[in-house]
Parts: sequence; structure tokens; C-alpha cells
Amino acid sequence: MKIAILPGDGIGVEIMAEAVKVIECLNSDFSLNAEMENGLVGGAGYDAHGHPLPQETLSLVKEADAIMLGAVGGYKWESLDIAVRPEKGLLGLRSELELFSNLRPAILYPQLADASSLKPEVVSGLDIMIVRELTGGIYFGQPRGIRTLEDGQRQGYNTLVYSESEVERIGRNAFDIAMKRDRRLCSVDKANVLEVTEMWREVMIEVSKDYPDVELSHMYVDNAAMQLVRAPKQFDVMVTTNMFGDILSDCAAMLTGSIGMLPSASLDANGKGMYEPIHGSAPDIAGENKANPLATILSVAMMLRYTFDNADMAKRIEDAVGSVLDQGLRTIDITSDGMTEIGTAEMGDAVVAAMRAVK
Ligand code: IPM
Ligand code: MG
Repeated sequence: MKIAILPGDGIGVEIMAEAVKVIECLNSDFSLNAEMENGLVGGAGYDAHGHPLPQETLSLVKEADAIMLGAVGGYKWESLDIAVRPEKGLLGLRSELELFSNLRPAILYPQLADASSLKPEVVSGLDIMIVRELTGGIYFGQPRGIRTLEDGQRQGYNTLVYSESEVERIGRNAFDIAMKRDRRLCSVDKANVLEVTEMWREVMIEVSKDYPDVELSHMYVDNAAMQLVRAPKQFDVMVTTNMFGDILSDCAAMLTGSIGMLPSASLDANGKGMYEPIHGSAPDIAGENKANPLATILSVAMMLRYTFDNADMAKRIEDAVGSVLDQGLRTIDITSDGMTEIGTAEMGDAVVAAMRAVK
């Protein structure tokens, strides 16, 4: 199996080095047979080739079975034209590879319960899966742009558009996931205002007929944002549009205390996937050995589970992360009184040691 390694920008480089250590350990000690090849994306791609998704990288990811991505973006590239900004590299990967299904788990590690800004009883045991549509909706809808009106002022416009088949495939995906969990699916829309999500709701109801064991509910997005901070444990799986999912997943991530802990998967129809931490490139701490590599390491676990169908190895990584937290080891974003603060590289080493501890 072939894994494309795209560290990207900022802390992406440091955290990816730790994920690579984990994959190397699986290769050497647990007979995983993964080949890794590096590529440039984001600002790094722009600097080297004038484009955030260079042709070389595109060929590499098309050939690979899975892609590990660090993070893209940074101050340095903020003033570039929107067409070549680092974020376009990420959006290009999603659309070129048709990675329409984005899985964003929000799980609270019991060892980190104090890190949440919400009361422990509100979040303890939290385990939500957000399924975000990733290649459609307002992010990609046409027409889009900024035009000049007759009266001389500018007008910006984007289009929120979904076809039934796009809604159906993300819906089926979410129902399949719900079947493997607590069998409760909440579809989030704005059907009281937007026709496109009125149709979204109708399609979800249609799909639900094939999943009689899953309890489907619907919620308007504003209410969903409120419920996520009021009583988040009411949710099992949530499914929603590209932009609503972008916003709600940040909110859900923060319930767990640190965005530095959460992995994600972006999958196509055949299980090929791109795996990345939910957090960004954090240019303010880049290169300082401070970033938390655990979200990226946990993304390796998701890759093993969803693309390589290897739940045992995935669990080995997840258990190793739990063990490292039990040992009191913490990067700066999740540290608290009485814990041992360590750096990015030391955290990666600790996870590898814990993976080896139970053979
Ligand atoms: C995310 C990010 C991206 C998005 C940006 C960087 C384009 O916020 O993955 O959630 O909006 O999808
Ligand atoms: Mg986002």
C-alpha cells in the first residue's frame, strides 16, 4: 500500500514527522507494508511551483491508496490571489479526488475532561461523529465571484446548490456509520429558509426508508449550534452540508477541550481517503516543537480503519495515545497541574514506545 505524505505548512511539518514515526513503527514491528512518498501542498507548493496543488502532487495523490495531510496556510500567503492561496490546495485535493464524505469525530478523552470549557457532567463520555458533505454546496457552487453592478458598487455572490444524488450519497454514508454506532442520526439543515435544504431533508427521509433501525431526526442549524453547547451528548451521528459542517465541527471539536486531539477522514466512494488533523497550521507556534501531534497520529489510526480495513492496528495506536495520556504526558495545549509537559517530538516518541509496550 502506498501513502502520500503531504506535510503542508506551519506545524504541519512537525506533526507529520511524528505520524511518520508511527507508520514506520507499524512497518518495522507490526508488519504493515506501507510505502510513503512526500509531496508539497499549500504554501509550500506555491513557493516551489507557483501553485498550492502542484501537478507532481496531484499525480502522487492519484496513485496513492491513502493520503496523510498536515495543515496548510500561514501569514506569508494571506495576501495572495484567492486562486493560489494555500486553502485552494486543500479544496483542490478534495474535489480532484472526489472526497465527498468528511468524518469528524468529537471524542472527549476522560483524561482531558478538565480541559473543556463546559462543565464535566455536560461533556464526560462525549462521542459524536459529524459527517460533513465535502465536495458540494456553497464551497463549489457556480456561479461565484465579485462583480460590479450598474451603479458602480461591487457585489459578491456564491451559490448554494445540491443535486439529489449528492445528498443521497452523503446520506447513505451517514446512515451506514450510524448503523455501526448508536443508530441515531440527526440531519442538520435550514429547511425553514433555504429550498436547497428543504430538498436535503426530503432526500434524507427517503434514504431513511432503507435504514429502519436508525432513528432519523432533523434540526435547523442555528438550533444545532445551540444544542451542541447546551447538551451535546444528545447527538450520536450528525450529517450536514459543507458549510454548516465546517462551522459545527469546529464547535464540536472545542467541546473536547483541545482541537489538537481530533483527527478526520475524507473519503471517496471506494474508501480511498485523505486523513488530517482538524486543526490548522498554527503559524504562531510553527517550528517550536510545541504543537500537539496526537490529532495527526490519531488520523493514522483512522486511515488504518477506513482505508486499510485494519481495526487492530488502529486500536493499537488509539490505545497507545490513551496510555501516554495516562502517564501524564501532555503537550502545552492540553497540559494542567501535575502533568509533565513535553514537546512535539517527545510526544511522538512516547506514542511509539507505548505501541511497542504491548506486543
Ligand atoms: C476545514 C477548514 C477548511 C474548510 C479551510 C482551510 C478551507 O476550515 O477543513 O474545516 O473550510 O473546509
Ligand atoms: Mg473548518
